[in-house]
Amino acid sequence: MPFSVGLQAASVALLSAGFPVVFTSAIIILLVIISITSSLQKDAADAPARLPINSLFAIIPFFRRRFDFLNWGFEVTGKSSFQFDLLRNNVIVVSGESARQTFFSAKGLDLTEGFKILSGAIPMVRGVTSDLQTRRISLIHKRLAAVQKNEQLSMLIPVMLEDSRRMMETWGNSGSFDPFDNVYELIFQLTVRSLSCAEISDDPCVVSRLKKLYDTLDVGTTPATVLLPWFPTPAMIRKVWATKEIYDIVVAAITAREQSGVSKNDTLQMLLDSGDEKLVVVGFIMGLLIAGARATGTTACWMLTFLGGHPEWRDKAKTEVEGLLASYPLASSESLASQLASISLETWEAQTPVLDSIIRETLRVAQPHTAMRRNLGPEMHIDGQLVPSGAYVVYPFSDVHLNSEIYPDPWKFNPDRQPETKAAYSYVGWGGGTTTCLGQRLARVELKIVTALFLLGFNHCVVDGSGKAVPQPPLPNWNDILLCRPPRGSFSLSYERSTAAL
Ligand code: HEM
Repeated sequence: MPFSVGLQAASVALLSAGFPVVFTSAIIILLVIISITSSLQKDAADAPARLPINSLFAIIPFFRRRFDFLNWGFEVTGKSSFQFDLLRNNVIVVSGESARQTFFSAKGLDLTEGFKILSGAIPMVRGVTSDLQTRRISLIHKRLAAVQKNEQLSMLIPVMLEDSRRMMETWGNSGSFDPFDNVYELIFQLTVRSLSCAEISDDPCVVSRLKKLYDTLDVGTTPATVLLPWFPTPAMIRKVWATKEIYDIVVAAITAREQSGVSKNDTLQMLLDSGDEKLVVVGFIMGLLIAGARATGTTACWMLTFLGGHPEWRDKAKTEVEGLLASYPLASSESLASQLASISLETWEAQTPVLDSIIRETLRVAQPHTAMRRNLGPEMHIDGQLVPSGAYVVYPFSDVHLNSEIYPDPWKFNPDRQPETKAAYSYVGWGGGTTTCLGQRLARVELKIVTALFLLGFNHCVVDGSGKAVPQPPLPNWNDILLCRPPRGSFSLSYERSTAAL
């Protein structure tokens, strides 16, 4: 009896507290019920080991300290695969060579579905992003391949170099910056340039507005917005609003182009000329911008950081680019950017082994990717462990890239190295098997031209928070799932112009 009186008093207090409190309490009760019911389910004999924690306690570490959390999971279960629940979603984490082979080749494991629930940077807005079904996604991928054809990519090189020159000029003759601000911003501009249109990329105010909106999507990706996308938390509202604003910017640019009747030589024109429906054009620009800018931006920041901390590799890369320029007889009075623009696409792709090895090693040590898939069915086994239909499967790249048996002294940046063993998929920097990066060609060229212009135009080194040169670059922070960024303010890149005309 006292119990029911207590309940009654509690419900009166709750109701008088107003809608937000009642709503939040209802959600908490719902979460608790979900977590209790999921903990009552019995696992099959061939199911992976289960983490010894309630599903509610896995949420924050999975999103906020993923590297530590997954390592803890392997350690505490003592197994090469384990499972846990994120609310009603069953997540299976796999590792090891055999698991990797199945993970990257199984037909039923779907990247888009896995990414949607476990990453969710772009909120699903009805009529905009939610309607991008498989058919439209494959059309978007086809158009992405078209952007990277020889002719299109060759045309982009001088324009991207001119963007880089203009932005690097604003850095002045000397100073220091956090690459995750300046270099990231530069790569964002180049990605907007290559994937959208002149109307947006020629206007620094619009580009900067777009970057802020995409940052809002990144920062606003909280566990709640991913797992309870229908729950109107402030972060979710900000994200939906940012998505709508991005949508408006893109649609305004498309409308301006259509109404002008003037054809331009850029990606938007190619999309419009292909006669695709608007949803595909908007989806192409909105979706690929976020995928492309983030991955390429992170890699560029880390490449310049590693080169700043490894002068021997800095010199090698610089000598390589100087060697390329030597075979293009251009007046040395030309700006550096124009000289670099005269190097052919073929040369950038086939005659830069040093830059290639630096990109490769940077992706190995500083790409904190966890590949995510959903098993669309039927049920399957990975390395003898059951993966039910509908379950999510994740494969952390750290399993292979930071594996000391494959890469001894794995945190050491050494572009000379090759995998020590012949293990399958021993390098997955650009993905593997059925899912490899579809923007790789564009990303590599972007990385090379930005690095080339910076190395030839500036001298640089890594300094600590107080501005003192340090012998080693900072360690990538794999718990930061977006940028691998070390603590803010812990280091910067100190630079000095080495040439008058960038
Ligand atoms: C340095 C830059 C980049 C890196 C390191 C990178 C890496 C990757 C990786 C590892 C995957 C496979 C993911 C997985 O298996 O879970 C992937 C997929 C993908 N990437 Fe990239 N990427 C980069 C830049 C780009 C750019 C610039 C674009 C577009 C313009 C792009 C578009 C895509 C797409 C569409 C997929 C999905 C492929 C599919 O669905 O099969 N990427 N990328």
